[in-house]
Amino acid sequence: NGALLPWAGEVNEVFSPICIQTKDGLQRKRIGSYPVCTVKESMEALDAAVNAFDNGRGEWPTMSVANRIACVERFTHKMLEQKDTVVKLIMWEIGKSYADSVKEFDRTVEYIYATIDALKDIDRDSSRFQIEQGIIAQVRRSPLGVVLCMGPFNYPLNETFTTLIPALIMGNTLLFKPPKHGTLLHYPLLEAFRSSFPKGVVNTIYGRGNKIVPQLMQSGKINVLTLIGSSRVADELKKLHPKVNRLRAILGLDAKNAAIVTRDADLDLAVKETVLGALSFNGQRCTAIKIVYVHRSLAQEFLKKLTEEVSRLKYGMPWESGVALTPLPEVNKPAYLTECIEDAKQFGAKVINPNGGEVLESFVYPAIVYPVNEQMKLYREEQFGPVVPVVPFDDLEEPIEYLIGSSHGQQVSIFSNNAAVISSLIDPLVNQVSRVNINCQCQRGPDIFPFTGRKDSAEGTLSVVDALRSFSIRSLVATKNTEHNKD
Ligand code: G3H
Repeated sequence: NGALLPWAGEVNEVFSPICIQTKDGLQRKRIGSYPVCTVKESMEALDAAVNAFDNGRGEWPTMSVANRIACVERFTHKMLEQKDTVVKLIMWEIGKSYADSVKEFDRTVEYIYATIDALKDIDRDSSRFQIEQGIIAQVRRSPLGVVLCMGPFNYPLNETFTTLIPALIMGNTLLFKPPKHGTLLHYPLLEAFRSSFPKGVVNTIYGRGNKIVPQLMQSGKINVLTLIGSSRVADELKKLHPKVNRLRAILGLDAKNAAIVTRDADLDLAVKETVLGALSFNGQRCTAIKIVYVHRSLAQEFLKKLTEEVSRLKYGMPWESGVALTPLPEVNKPAYLTECIEDAKQFGAKVINPNGGEVLESFVYPAIVYPVNEQMKLYREEQFGPVVPVVPFDDLEEPIEYLIGSSHGQQVSIFSNNAAVISSLIDPLVNQVSRVNINCQCQRGPDIFPFTGRKDSAEGTLSVVDALRSFSIRSLVATKNTEHNKD
């Protein structure tokens, strides 16, 4: 209930994707451990959040917006004091390069300050009165209740906070479960949460999500589920809620974003952006380009340039300067990627680039796989790793049909120098995905832009402003205008 509980009972060992040489060969380095909350402890944390909300009468949901902002600012100052520790933990826990770990931290702090500014604007609007048909109306933004917040391993701080902070600042109380890979880095922030917010407002639980989260959902006490993760898990969790129709879900889920390289594309630009889009953080981004359609007439030239560009990427340890390719945190990922590549080979594809797909413990060298077709896993599955499936096409209808038939609907990138081709693609594609990128890679930012997806890719919309709306209700205080009614 806002207190740091004593650490007793079961613990989970944490192993870094960064390996060290041992007498038994290369092995993931042990970097710490965390307590595993029991179901009972998790339910107590849930009750603390429920009590702190107190059906909307608690100190936090009734606090003025200005005071809530002051608490979040206080938290952010304390968070900044922990920057060095948090950044190093991001790097060690998920293998993200040091430079990108710093970016993740800085982007998160910028997001918090942008959220505060956006809330001040919303609050200014709420203080206005509007008179319509004899009613004086004040429109407010009110909290929803208890939010269960879960973030992903690939942006364990940033993506978690893009839901946690807006949910919090709107007056909700929270139950927060950090991702399995990306737990330790939240430790240094526990004290900042405890000392910045009233008791029971932010409750962090550690442990096995598959044991504790279903019970939390079944309790029926969660008002909002927010999860950046897999659609399968989101569907399973939602079903457990006894009043699923009353549950609000803000979800960022799977994606299989495509790049379409048309016959009139600037190939150098298309290659550069494809490599950034497909292989930044080893392809472990929901926004990554996960399949590339290239016009058959350009395919060989495209593959040659792509191979050259990939060979220029530096791989190594996350702390090395200029490093682009780093070890993967998920233990099963190298085997899964190998399986996808072998499956593609069985159906006639080849790995185009030298050393593509080679595995060294937690490290997988990027593989360009060509030609990919609908028989292969790489055609439909979200590989979430450093593999670039390339599909040749003759007619632009082929990638459009691919996106229509896909169960995902997040983003697409079109590479073309022909304005007529671009405009003929925008309308059909913007109705399949939630973001169409022209001559640039798929990505989430800038964070002020809406971030969502169609089909299995998302539920609800995030962005600095949209998130504030998502975690609140637009409520109304309506007063009879007695002056008006005299007439
Ligand atoms: O994993 C999904 C992230 O939201 C990706 O964000 O496009 O800025 O890397 P990003």
